[in-house]
Amino acid sequence: MKIDGQTQLFGIIGDPVEHSLSPVMHNAALRHLGLNGVYIPMRPDNLADGFRGLRSLGFIGVSVTVPFKVAVMEHLDEIDPVALQIGAVNTLIFTRTEAATPVCRGVNTDWLGSNRALAEVIQIAGRTVLILGAGGAARAVGFGLIEAGAKILISNRTAEKAQTLAAQLGGTFVPMDALPAIQADILINTTSVGMTPHDQEIPIDPELLSRFAVVMDIVYAPLETRLLREARARGCQTVDGLQMLHYQGAEQFILWTGHRAPHTVMRQALIKALT
Ligand code: ATR
Repeated sequence: MKIDGQTQLFGIIGDPVEHSLSPVMHNAALRHLGLNGVYIPMRPDNLADGFRGLRSLGFIGVSVTVPFKVAVMEHLDEIDPVALQIGAVNTLIFTRTEAATPVCRGVNTDWLGSNRALAEVIQIAGRTVLILGAGGAARAVGFGLIEAGAKILISNRTAEKAQTLAAQLGGTFVPMDALPAIQADILINTTSVGMTPHDQEIPIDPELLSRFAVVMDIVYAPLETRLLREARARGCQTVDGLQMLHYQGAEQFILWTGHRAPHTVMRQALIKALT
């Protein structure tokens, strides 16, 4: 990779950020297209100072991950209406002109990533989707599904959070103990249950999985979670957690560079990094 005076700067802010797979994915895409850019992980000690740095050092595009997706919003010049509605920003776009200070716009590509990942295997409109979890990821995924014309059911360990989210998104709250009675086409796990090192855990009774046509997990370490393994064994189609990660990144890539993201290259780089 050539780095010189023209190199464009991209990166991700998070804490912790050292295990993020986004640098691997975006650098593979930049390299593949022969673009003179580099994408680096950053952990700001202080968000306001970090923002001053990004603005003054010439960054073009920055991803935002935990715990900054909500906190960044007060530092932006513009917030996309959809990101405002979701209440979280995962992408910063800096627009620079010769004279003025850069304008920083915040958008959200997480919901686009989950919709695209799912749409690869099933048409979303008209489906009923059970979402497990009621945190930030559930909010973006649920928003996307409603946008795409699905009906959503939300269930969560802490019932009040699911009730609140269901009311905000226009979905239906389902208590955990009512799960055996529900019928849905698609199941999406947005909790961290099943993530390494707790990879024997599963967020729902496996015996309930056969009723879903598609099961999607946002956990990507391990790539094949117990949830996906049990779902496949019962004849469900599955969508792994790298798909959402890679499609939300692909949406960022086109916003920042104007180039269509090389999907296969990005996914292969992610798989290589995980194995
Ligand atoms: P994210 O931004 O990734 O969604 P989050 O906002 O912290 O992260 O949300 C984590 C989600 O995973 C929540 O729905 C959480 O359930 P609670 O609301 O009850 O905390 C869920 N979660 C995390 N660990 C869990 C566990 N061991 N069992 C069940 N749910 C769990």
